[in-house]
Amino acid sequence: MTKPEPRPRICDYEGSNYRTEFWENRGRNYEDRVERIALQKLLPAKGKRLLEIGAGFGRLTNEYKNFEQVVVLDYSLSQLQYAQETLGRDPRYIYVAADAYKLPFRPGVFDAATMVRVIHHMASVRTVLAQIRRVLAPNSTFILEHANKRNLKAMLRYALRKQTWDPNAFEPVEFVELNFDFHPEYIRQELQAAGFTVQQRIPVSFFRLGLLKKSVSVNLLVKLDSLLQKTGWLAAPSIFTRSGTIGTSVNNLGLSAIFACPECGGDLERAGNEMVCRKDGHRWAVRDGIYDFKATADNDD
Ligand SMILES: C[S@@+](CC[C@H](N)C(=O)[O-])C[C@H]1O[C@@H](n2cnc3c(N)ncnc32)[C@H](O)[C@@H]1O
Repeated sequence: MTKPEPRPRICDYEGSNYRTEFWENRGRNYEDRVERIALQKLLPAKGKRLLEIGAGFGRLTNEYKNFEQVVVLDYSLSQLQYAQETLGRDPRYIYVAADAYKLPFRPGVFDAATMVRVIHHMASVRTVLAQIRRVLAPNSTFILEHANKRNLKAMLRYALRKQTWDPNAFEPVEFVELNFDFHPEYIRQELQAAGFTVQQRIPVSFFRLGLLKKSVSVNLLVKLDSLLQKTGWLAAPSIFTRSGTIGTSVNNLGLSAIFACPECGGDLERAGNEMVCRKDGHRWAVRDGIYDFKATADNDD
């Protein structure tokens, strides 16, 4: 009998103050704005159902207004609760607590997916990309942001021997536990291996330098970054990629039919405040407007 694959390590944001400690009033207005600009360049004009993977507190969720439904997914329940507070109980938003390595959905139920500032926490790029490809219908769009090890600052630091790891090396570098930097070509090849066709890559956040941000107006930096994004010069610390899937769309399921058991892939049935797997009997809680695929209802006390 073959042993099940060990579960990849997860960077757990449960209970973290990511919103207040990293974003709010932390001088990252520039990064936030240039990421939104890149997203708008890559998003389709409209769509039906988008999956936002590792949505955190929903910082970017309002960029997806041209989609009829947005599934806001994160491993951390507390991040989703923040997202709910900000975005509200609008029925367009479906909040799901789940592990991206085991997405709790049937194949082909989304026509778009995004994952921004998340894959740098992923120890198994291959597993997560295979999961995302599985839940996307043919002719879908996948926007992936990844940290770029071949950025100008890293290249310079390496040349000056202030950094031990080589930014030109193909393999990802784990510079802090569960924090990876990737070679753009590595990500491109992994996307292709998972069944995506890479259509466009945009370098983002060229001016992510404290001193520069303090001395030059954010508006000017944003304008310059937006211009540099057009060059396709992959030397910025962050790269946004847009990939497609081939074929024709089959995505016409209603909400109740999109979910599948994350353990066995079986069909789920709603029973009161639970989703019950018809195949292995696992029960998953739905509470306070969040579908919780982290803890089974059986184990939850
Ligand atoms: C740096 S935050 C980014 C949040 C958001 N995308 C943004 O740009 O503001 C990374 C998020 O990824 C989530 N995450 C990490 N590993 C995950 C996994 N295996 N499954 C689902 N979410 C995960 C974390 O809980 C966290 O909210």
